Amino acid sequence: MEVSRERVGPQNDIGSDSAKFDVSVSYSEIESLIELALRAPSGDNCQPWRFTWNDNTLAIFYEQSLGQHALANNNHATWLSLGCLIEALIIGASGLKLRLSERYDFANWKSAPVAILKFQRQTMKTEALISEIQRRKTVRLPYVETELPADVIKLLRVEASTFTTCDFSLKSEKPIEILDYLTFCDEFMWKNRKVATDFLKWVRTDQKEIESHDDGMPWWTLGIQKAELVPIRIFRRYPKLIGLLWNLGFAKKMNQMTRTLALGQQALYCVAIKQTDAFHVMEAGRLAYRLWLTLSLEGYCVQPLSIPSMTGFDVEMGFPPPSTEESAIQRFKSGYQKLRKFFAFSNEQYPVWMFRTGKVLESTQQISTPRVNVHERLRVYTRDQ
Ligand SMILES: Cc1cc2nc3c(=O)[nH]c(=O)nc-3n(C[C@H](O)[C@H](O)[C@H](O)COP(=O)(O)O)c2cc1C
Repeated sequence: MEVSRERVGPQNDIGSDSAKFDVSVSYSEIESLIELALRAPSGDNCQPWRFTWNDNTLAIFYEQSLGQHALANNNHATWLSLGCLIEALIIGASGLKLRLSERYDFANWKSAPVAILKFQRQTMKTEALISEIQRRKTVRLPYVETELPADVIKLLRVEASTFTTCDFSLKSEKPIEILDYLTFCDEFMWKNRKVATDFLKWVRTDQKEIESHDDGMPWWTLGIQKAELVPIRIFRRYPKLIGLLWNLGFAKKMNQMTRTLALGQQALYCVAIKQTDAFHVMEAGRLAYRLWLTLSLEGYCVQPLSIPSMTGFDVEMGFPPPSTEESAIQRFKSGYQKLRKFFAFSNEQYPVWMFRTGKVLESTQQISTPRVNVHERLRVYTRDQ
């Protein structure tokens, strides 16, 4: 399936006449643009992208060897990440006075670029969100509990209103059935050995590992204490022990952590789609990323809660994580319905990506997670694409 989309909203004036897309974009502009856009989030910081530039078009390829994960079912996680990347490119390009036109091919990603972007130089304003591309991060600490101010909520609604493809909902209350569903989802992550193993693969547990990788998650970004690394190291080496340690108190610890985080959050918000194809999942990623940057600009922290939303959506669409037991599938299905109801989405709206947002308790200075060097992922390729 090929999808072409001209950007809606303020950038609508591009038109489809490809002759209008000039080629006076230099390699160094593309290089700096991609370097910036690589700051966009990806699942477990796997950064599954490769780029080619041919003086005219930028092609984005999906590297399945990096993106495959027990939680990336039917590529939903990949298309959410792609949406973040595309939006980062759009916002970043505004700083270079460049507008983008995108063409997507979600069916042939194994052999062809998943997106092809063309650029047009124009007089335009640099998007305010550009400063947050570098500053945004995932904050997994407890958040302070006060209401999200009405003007911030309004900003989020304005962002969401520019997307005709997705819907947005934000709630401040935390009903017990939602907390129960979140607890089930955190447990699921550890109880499903394939999910736990794929996650642990990306955790960097000591300085040597941190220094030798420019992807994955340094342990201190996970909101855990150094002592808590011991079970993580053991699990990574001997995944079969997860079940044993689970019964010896790890489950209690996990549940406490979920509740502390969930009870402390200021608000939960969610992006939903009415059409469930890859393009719309990608669009949900674009909107979610804009909301994340908007909150970052206003001084708020954000953490995705993907298992209840994205994995709930995977299950609803018939793509549960591998080796998911029937009882867990049923829990997902009922939890997903509760989530839909909680966010006041209709049965025609499919929640795909949920987040918690708030401010952190103490003034913690978080260092950003690493990113791959742009030169490892960008090639000039002068043959036609
Ligand atoms: C599709 C997707 C799903 C994610 N799901 C979660 C999640 O469930 N929980 C979480 O803490 N972080 C989640 N993240 C955040 C990534 O782990 C994070 O973006 C990555 O490690 C890079 O770190 P940064 O966001 O601080 O730059 C997700 C990111 C993406 C793109």
